Amino acid sequence: MAEPKKLFIKTYGCQMNVYDSERMAEAMGGEGYVQTARVEDADMILLNTCHIREKAAEKVYSELGRFKPLKAENPDLKIGVAGCVAQAEGEEIMRRQPLVDLVVGPQAYHRLPDLAAKAATGAKALDTDFPEEDKFEHLNARPKAKRGPTAFLTVQEGCDKFCAFCVVPYTRGAEVSRPAARVLSEARDLVGRGVREITLLGQNVNAYHGHDKGLAGLIWALAEIDGLERIRFTTSHPNDMDDALIDAHGTCEKLMPYLHLPVQSGSDRILKAMNRKHTAESYIRLIERIRAARPDLLLSGDFIVGFPGETEQDFADTMALVETVEYGQAYSFKYSARPGTPAAEKQAVPTEVADERLQTLQALLSRQQHDVQNRMVGRRAKVLFEKPGRLEGQMVGKSEHLHAVHVHAPEAERGDLVSVEIVESAANSLAGRLITS
Ligand code: SAH
Ligand code: SF4
Ligand code: F3S
Repeated sequence: MAEPKKLFIKTYGCQMNVYDSERMAEAMGGEGYVQTARVEDADMILLNTCHIREKAAEKVYSELGRFKPLKAENPDLKIGVAGCVAQAEGEEIMRRQPLVDLVVGPQAYHRLPDLAAKAATGAKALDTDFPEEDKFEHLNARPKAKRGPTAFLTVQEGCDKFCAFCVVPYTRGAEVSRPAARVLSEARDLVGRGVREITLLGQNVNAYHGHDKGLAGLIWALAEIDGLERIRFTTSHPNDMDDALIDAHGTCEKLMPYLHLPVQSGSDRILKAMNRKHTAESYIRLIERIRAARPDLLLSGDFIVGFPGETEQDFADTMALVETVEYGQAYSFKYSARPGTPAAEKQAVPTEVADERLQTLQALLSRQQHDVQNRMVGRRAKVLFEKPGRLEGQMVGKSEHLHAVHVHAPEAERGDLVSVEIVESAANSLAGRLITS
């Protein structure tokens, strides 16, 4: 029998890209490809890319340059670029980097096998359409292989919000929800293959409308699946947090007490310029309502500093909002002007100023993260084991609050859901001791 062809995929960007990479690997599995972790062995290399900030996009070109010797060694090697950079600058990629054989956008990757066949003839293949058909319906069924205990499941794609700084509405297209029945059948299949925790994904996942009762309706339907122990979702927009979803945080046992709810800035002036359509005050009131429903909820967020026009006072407002809310975890970024977005036209804040603000904000966020982690010490948590730890007999998994927890548990296996007492808080993880009774 001939050796199967080997596919190497490298994924950048958000969890939706992680999910897409899995689905692309499955689609190519139908064409006889198996995945390899060694780029030197590959017959096809796919970079699944991110366009959100300039640095992310530039990484793609430097990575592509590194493949030159591989192609010299193996002229049959095919190199493809997928994801959001492919969507935003597909033709430019082909021009700038002749090594690239294939470009496929995030809404067209069900056509990957056809594109690969075209590339195999020596032609260049590019597809950055936003096709009418639903890509998920045209993908190969997920193979029945056993899976790890956690999985991502994309339920909603695209964005209609058009925040002034963001490329996502352009790279991913308009907001679309997958019908609940299809999501449920994919979830049942995942659970049948060993998955115990599912994270529902969408650029604006709480705008989900594939169920007549929205995302909360979908969560309640998923909670009915035996064997599915935990449900999470990301990323949410403050304006789409409806009452039913807030209520589910208080009443649905399988829905984990963790919420990523980006606010970007604490200044109303900047929020308006960002086209966020909410104020700092309305965000804080919303957090109060969610915490009333679920007092131990761990809140996560995203922040941008140095948005055009941001003054010292605007930045102080962001710091004040962070102090008020108290985040258990957060991402913060220096504003990056993205071609084609409205904010890109505006005068930027000097880099040194933005750098300094980023450092100041990150110091506060990191202090809050550690305060929240430290408060976990002495408390009980349930940990879903995902993999062995570095120490002999150790396992690592996530708590309800998405903290990584290291536990000495020589008898345990991947996929076990165990009770622990948190005994220590380290830089980016916790240590727990098994509770046996
Ligand atoms: N849909 C999600 C986030 C998508 S992008 C949401 O609305 O929350 C993830 C994060 O990247 C954003 O929340 C924002 O903080 C950051 N980001 C997006 N565009 C950016 C830009 N041009 N410069 C810097 N950070 C950006
Ligand atoms: Fe981008 Fe705003 Fe849409 Fe989030 S809500 S994906 S930040 S445009
Ligand atoms: Fe990046 Fe595209 Fe996700 S731009 S953050 S990979 S939606």
